[in-house]
Amino acid sequence: MTYPRRRSARAWRAGGHDPAVRADDGRRLSTGPHGPEGIPTMSDEVQALADELEAVWRRSDALFEGIQPEAFLARPIPQRHPFLYYLGHLPAFAWDQVCRGLLARGASSRPEFDDLFARRENPDLAGLDTDRVACHDWPRVEEVLAWRDEVRDAVRGALDEVRALGDAHVMSSRGRVLHLVIEHESLHHETLLHLAARLDGALKRPQATRPAPSFAQGVEPRQILVPAGRATLGAAFEEQAFGWDHEFPAEVVDVPAFRMDRTPVMTGEFFEFVDAGGYTDRSFWTAGDWRWREAVGLEHPVAWRRDGGEWWYRGLLEDLPLTRVFDWPAYVSQAEAQAYLAWRGRRLPTEAEFHRAAYGTPDGAERRHPWGDAPAESRHGNFDWAHWSPVPVGSHPDGASAFGLLELVGNGWEWTRSTLAPRKGFRPYMPDLRHVSTEAFEAEPVVRLGASWATPRRLLRRSYRRWSARRDPYVFAKFRGVVPAEEPTA
Ligand SMILES: [Fe+2]
Repeated sequence: MTYPRRRSARAWRAGGHDPAVRADDGRRLSTGPHGPEGIPTMSDEVQALADELEAVWRRSDALFEGIQPEAFLARPIPQRHPFLYYLGHLPAFAWDQVCRGLLARGASSRPEFDDLFARRENPDLAGLDTDRVACHDWPRVEEVLAWRDEVRDAVRGALDEVRALGDAHVMSSRGRVLHLVIEHESLHHETLLHLAARLDGALKRPQATRPAPSFAQGVEPRQILVPAGRATLGAAFEEQAFGWDHEFPAEVVDVPAFRMDRTPVMTGEFFEFVDAGGYTDRSFWTAGDWRWREAVGLEHPVAWRRDGGEWWYRGLLEDLPLTRVFDWPAYVSQAEAQAYLAWRGRRLPTEAEFHRAAYGTPDGAERRHPWGDAPAESRHGNFDWAHWSPVPVGSHPDGASAFGLLELVGNGWEWTRSTLAPRKGFRPYMPDLRHVSTEAFEAEPVVRLGASWATPRRLLRRSYRRWSARRDPYVFAKFRGVVPAEEPTA
């Protein structure tokens, strides 16, 4: 496989091609989708991305509007930055990728913001190194908002240049840099939701668009045999308009037969583990996980709280009696998921087993989605903000895989036991994003697949891999167990 040759915009201009269309005084003329007559306009592809970018910015704005102004410096999760960091981080990333990286414009109008908001964003949760994310001199919210709007205008104004660069640069080709900014923004929406969920109720503001949560009964757990077969992990670079480094190239693997839980573990099932003393019996935990559990004083999932004899679930906007959400999937860290499965005599699936279960078929063909090749619709699963919440397990039978497994995609990411590793033949094409490719491999995070309720449709592509520290409990991630194929069905 060969990637298009990377060539900087500066080098491109040095060749005598200035993609920016400017008046004699240097002002840009073509800042919108329709330039003056005779000037190339944006292709439909870039226009569609421009519209998507505006939509994802509106979603970011709605999330920040969901908290009171005085909450911007609150740190409801000590190992994460305050909200203000993310308010600045999103435009900082957009500037860095589009204006500095691709168009070689250098620093933004606030170089100190470029630096401040590019700091390491995912501190080591295992080490609880909160100093690394500390900052004692944050700028005012109004200043950051003004800069954010300026950056957004700059990105809007750069769209014609991105289009004009075309295939001269791997990140302008097919509008990749815009895909990147859109997906980065979407991925941080989950970060913001976790912070909001942990915020004191008085600091939240109602979200007008949020539907009422659903409490219908889940489905009976059972296991399903997935016969041996092949699974294609990743994708060929040329096959899709965009993917992150670690999605490429495609790799075909043979997967032995196994049995898998038809549905993810429900909150009520996980409660049985807590109630049976699962968090006080070290035999279910690895030595490292046990030390971590003791160090942070974890006695139950972080989304739960105990008030006297009453158990509560910490929802996005309000706390709910835990029993009301017993049929929702249990959201826990990978370490807690593994302890639960050790208690039940099961283990997590590998990345390849998940792919075989979700996208494979009995006849060996592979599908784009668990339900087939049809585009994702709300009847297929709980994703793309359909509910703003988990829903009872088994609510989307139309999303079943060819083997009859339910909600592998939607209603929460699914933990695998696989460490994030490069695909065979891996070659990063995003040189400015080593922390999400080669450096990420070094940290040995674990892969989670599928989608959460807050995952946009564009991320439902089969090659997409999300990853986390295995002891990070602040993820919308559920899990299910597998056992050897020969074991009798539970
Ligand atoms: Fe980020």
